[in-house]
Amino acid sequence: MRKYLIIAIDGPAGSGKSSTARALAKKLKLPYIDTGAMYRAITLKAMRQKIALNDTKKLVETARKARIELKGVDPRKQKVYLDGKDVTKAIREPLLTKNVFYVAQEPLIRREMVKKQRAMAKKNGAVMEGRDIGTVVFSNADYKFYFSASDDVRARRRYRELIAEGRQTTLEEVLNDIRRRDKTDLERKAGPLRQAKDAIPIDTSSLTIEETIDMILDIVKR
Ligand code: CDP
Ligand code: CDP
Repeated sequence: MRKYLIIAIDGPAGSGKSSTARALAKKLKLPYIDTGAMYRAITLKAMRQKIALNDTKKLVETARKARIELKGVDPRKQKVYLDGKDVTKAIREPLLTKNVFYVAQEPLIRREMVKKQRAMAKKNGAVMEGRDIGTVVFSNADYKFYFSASDDVRARRRYRELIAEGRQTTLEEVLNDIRRRDKTDLERKAGPLRQAKDAIPIDTSSLTIEETIDMILDIVKR
């Protein structure tokens, strides 16, 4: 029997996993684990080392050597460290976002990440979000949620974020990027994006973050 609580949240980009999971972790005093940040950090390392992203062998080697840490007590201010350096901002670059799929589709890299994610949650539990948490990483999680939202809503959310950061883009470009990423997340063989059989589905299209959190808290408190 596990003594710690695991809440798994999966879903596509822009469905609200990260904002909800951070707030939920804070409320429940649980560690927050952003698994996407880990795949992003490896992508960053490979890009900085100018490794050909389709060179599987080199990519796996890079992942094995990468030291990834999630630091900070407040989940909303969590920092991502790669080999001892703060890469919290760098891993959100749009070009990098387009490249994460090379890393995410690699079974050997996923195996390493899953091991690491399990170890991270071993001591104090976690609110963990990603694509394969309820299906692979913690298929025995205490609570599993599968977020969805229409493509249009998700693209609008991301577009607003990018514009607020001062980036130049169009809603159409963001929508295309999201659809492309959905496709690779759904179609890869290792750890694809799937709703676990026992996951509770939540369509966040017309929900605020607060409404989503309340919904989950209602279920967890029961
Ligand atoms: O925040 P956003 O939804 O844009 O993406 P993310 O959660 O940071 O994840 C970035 C990418 O990493 C996703 O598009 C997935 O391809 C990959 N990922 C994954 O394969 N498995 C996970 N558990 C989490 C993310
Ligand atoms: O982690 P994921 O990619 O699933 O989504 P997120 O980063 O939590 O949310 C993407 C953007 O949508 C953020 O700017 C959130 O503030 C916003 N959002 C929203 O407006 N309403 C929701 N119900 C969920 C997220």
